[in-house]
Amino acid sequence: MNEHPSTLSPNDPTATGKRRSKPWRWVAGGAGGVLLALAGTAGFFLAYPERAPASLDRTIEDVSGENPHPVALIRPPVQPLSALAQLGEKIFHDPSLSGSGTQSCASCHDPARSYGPPNDRDVQLGGVDMRTEGLRPPPSLAYLYRQGPFGIGPTDQENDAPIPLDQLAQQAQGTARATKSAGTAPAANQMVPSGGLFWDGREDTFMDQAKGPMMNPAEMANKSLYDVAAKLQRAKYVSDFKPIFGNDIVNQPAMLFTEAMSALSRFQVESASFHRFDSKYDHWLEGRRV
Ligand code: HEC
Repeated sequence: MNEHPSTLSPNDPTATGKRRSKPWRWVAGGAGGVLLALAGTAGFFLAYPERAPASLDRTIEDVSGENPHPVALIRPPVQPLSALAQLGEKIFHDPSLSGSGTQSCASCHDPARSYGPPNDRDVQLGGVDMRTEGLRPPPSLAYLYRQGPFGIGPTDQENDAPIPLDQLAQQAQGTARATKSAGTAPAANQMVPSGGLFWDGREDTFMDQAKGPMMNPAEMANKSLYDVAAKLQRAKYVSDFKPIFGNDIVNQPAMLFTEAMSALSRFQVESASFHRFDSKYDHWLEGRRV
C-alpha cells in the first residue's frame, strides 16, 4: 500500500491542526474563560455595587464613580405651605421692610443660588444708603431646618443632636487636661462645635436670627422693631396676618413684628426650596448615576 503521510502522526504538523488542539489553545481558551468570568463578575458588581464585597468598595468607586453603599435619604414630606409660611415668603421677598427700601432677605440670600449670595462679592452692601459693607459673607440658607441649637460635643454620625453643656461638663470631670506635647491624647474625644445659626452659631432659632438682619445697620438697617412694624402695617399683605393672629394684630406693633419673624421662620422650615436634596452628591448617596 502506498503510504500516505500519516494524518495520525503526532509529529505531523499538518494533522494536528484538525484532529487535536495545540496546548497554547487550551491555555488561551482557559484564560479567555477566566477573563469572561471576571468581566461578568465585575459587570455585575458595577451594576449592583451594594452587593459587592467590602474589599471592592474602593475599586468600584474608582472605576464607576458610584457609591458602593447607597442610602435612602429621608426627605421631609412635601406639602402645601401653611398660611403662616406663605406670609413668611412674602416678607422674605419684601424690600420695603428695609431702611433703604430696596433690600429684602432675598437680596443677599438668592433663591436661584441656594439662598446664597447673588454675586461673587466677598461681602454684600447694605444699610440705608446701600453702601455699607457687611462684615461676613452671607451663607446659604439651605438645610437649616435640621440645625440644632449650638453645642460643643463629640461627633456622632448617627445622631446630629448636640449634647447639653451640663452633660458635657460632667463628662469632662476627672479627665486629665491635654498638654501640648506630641502623643498626648486629647482631653475629650473629638469635641466639635456644631449647631446654631450664623457662622459662629450665636443664635439658636430662626425667629431670633431674623431680627439680626432687620436691625443690622449694614443690612436692612431698621432702627427698631417699631420701625419694622410700621413698614409691615403699610405692606400690601398686612391683612394676611388677621386670619392667623386675629384682627387686632395689626394694631399691636411688637406682636406684629414677632409674628413676622415667626412667619419667616416657618417659610424657611416648610418650603422644600430650602432643602431640595437634588445635588449631585445627593444622587450619588442614593446610588444614582451622576
Ligand atoms: C445685606 C445682606 C443680608 C440680608 C439683607 C440678609 N442677610 Fe441673612 N445673612 C447675611 C450674612 C452676612 C449672614 C452671616 C452673618 C454672620 O454669621 O454673622 C447671614 C446669615 C443668615 C442666617 C444664618 C445662616 C446660617 O447658616 O447659620 C439666616 C437664617 C439668615 N441670614 C436669614 C436671613 C433673613 C430671614 C433675612 C431677612 C430678614 C436676611 N437673612 C437678610 C446677610 C444678609
